[in-house]
Amino acid sequence: MQRRHREIHARAIAAAVCDPARRRLLQMALGVAGAAVCGGRGNLLAQPKFHDYPFSLGVASGDPTSDGVVLWTRIAPDPLNGGGMAEFDLPVDWVVATDPHFAKIVARGTAIAMPEWAHSLHVEVTGLQADRWYWFRFLIGGVSSPVGRTRTLPAAGAPAARLRLAVASCQHFEQGWFCAYRHMLADDLDFIIHVGDYIYEGSWGAQLRRHESSRAAVTLEEYRNRHACYKRDADLAAAHAAYPWLVTWDDHDVANDYAGLAANDGEAPGEFALRRAAAYRAWYEHMPLRAVHRPDASGGMPLRSRIDFGDLARIHLLDDRQYRSPHACAERGAMVRDCAQRFASAQTMLGAAQEDWLADGLAASPAHWNVLAQQTLMAPFESRNADGGYDVWTDGWDGYAGARARLLRFIGAAGVSNVVALGGDMHAFYVTDLKSDFADETAPVIATEFVGTSITSNDVDYAAVAADLAHNPHIRAFESRWRGYLYCEITPELWRTDLRIVDDATNAVSQGRTLATFHVEDGRPGAQA
Ligand SMILES: [Fe+2]
Repeated sequence: MQRRHREIHARAIAAAVCDPARRRLLQMALGVAGAAVCGGRGNLLAQPKFHDYPFSLGVASGDPTSDGVVLWTRIAPDPLNGGGMAEFDLPVDWVVATDPHFAKIVARGTAIAMPEWAHSLHVEVTGLQADRWYWFRFLIGGVSSPVGRTRTLPAAGAPAARLRLAVASCQHFEQGWFCAYRHMLADDLDFIIHVGDYIYEGSWGAQLRRHESSRAAVTLEEYRNRHACYKRDADLAAAHAAYPWLVTWDDHDVANDYAGLAANDGEAPGEFALRRAAAYRAWYEHMPLRAVHRPDASGGMPLRSRIDFGDLARIHLLDDRQYRSPHACAERGAMVRDCAQRFASAQTMLGAAQEDWLADGLAASPAHWNVLAQQTLMAPFESRNADGGYDVWTDGWDGYAGARARLLRFIGAAGVSNVVALGGDMHAFYVTDLKSDFADETAPVIATEFVGTSITSNDVDYAAVAADLAHNPHIRAFESRWRGYLYCEITPELWRTDLRIVDDATNAVSQGRTLATFHVEDGRPGAQA
């Protein structure tokens, strides 16, 4: 019903713009040449001519299933200034082929780019073959988008011999170049998982290049412009065109260290709710997500998802920002000691509904490996303070220690197969043993954790963290001095994680290398060097 309405609307606009008064309006909206407006087949919207490239933000794909995938682009001839489009719907053609030259097209259609979604498109292609690669592009007015490559997943339950993925996080545009993504192009991945801080709402630290604005993003238009600034990075765009992505968010995708509807920087609750809704909406508009993830009328956005890669891996993509309780024992994320609230049963990281959903998905999982793709370090980390005692950081899982213990105890009791947690946020690599009781050195290891360093963001005091490692024996490895990502290669028998780094993220053409490799054996939780 809605689609038919859109088709009629598109035809109505096409007819209306032959009226001279509306014609000028459409020329302004599209940036089209006047001669082209009523030319061609007389369907104005089918034949627009843009003064500036309409696919300036590239293409992306994501959220693959065994018979489909989401194709993404946004029509934005003036990307850093609101997009350069106006209040018109625009039909955009898309094609999917089994080869990069589009000799064999297997799916095609027309989607409507709408102003209320910043002329972004989220095409949910279905009917594709399981477990194979495809190529896609968008076309408008004779102009082609860049070509994207994507893939479907093996059929549910089908034997899958190998999965290769990369984990990315924390890419402050101003603090370096996204050259880590260029190295991922050579990794022959199945997909990239991004676990948050895809954009930064504000500026801090080094400024090797500048955002489109020095102002922190607050309004919908500002978040849209910020996403456009990031999407125009050539290495990031190439990684989106090369692989499907699975995405979740963290604080800076909205504002530093926010918790649910509680701001960290003193904004009034009502004000912050509007800001968060604007950030969520812009985030949806710029990610390859299905319509089920659209922001709802309340300003929330259902993001969590479950992905099955044949019988090999079940991935739970978690949202630990939207539903979390306010920070424990302080008005904002802080270093604290002696904080009983961290352990309170009501102190939740995922929210009750997501926690139940995760437990159900883990308990029923038929997969060999069970992946928790989430934002930050799950393992505890106690830092020595000036008084000789130890503090913990409440914005991470340490501020939700009761919820963490509940989840790990469940995994242990349910006997969930081969659990591996993947995270980011720390701007450092961490390899850890996840246990039901971290105070008991003899307690069994229940799951394995790998946290990836940042793509560019950098503010960790290496020496200070390193000095506390002996006090945190479940931390098997730590390194914050390089930027990079995690490369994971998974087979039924063995999980391999490489800590991949770039030598210098302030150099746009930096070389990359593997700093260290860890393995997890089937049925034996805990990483081995
Ligand atoms: Fe970050």
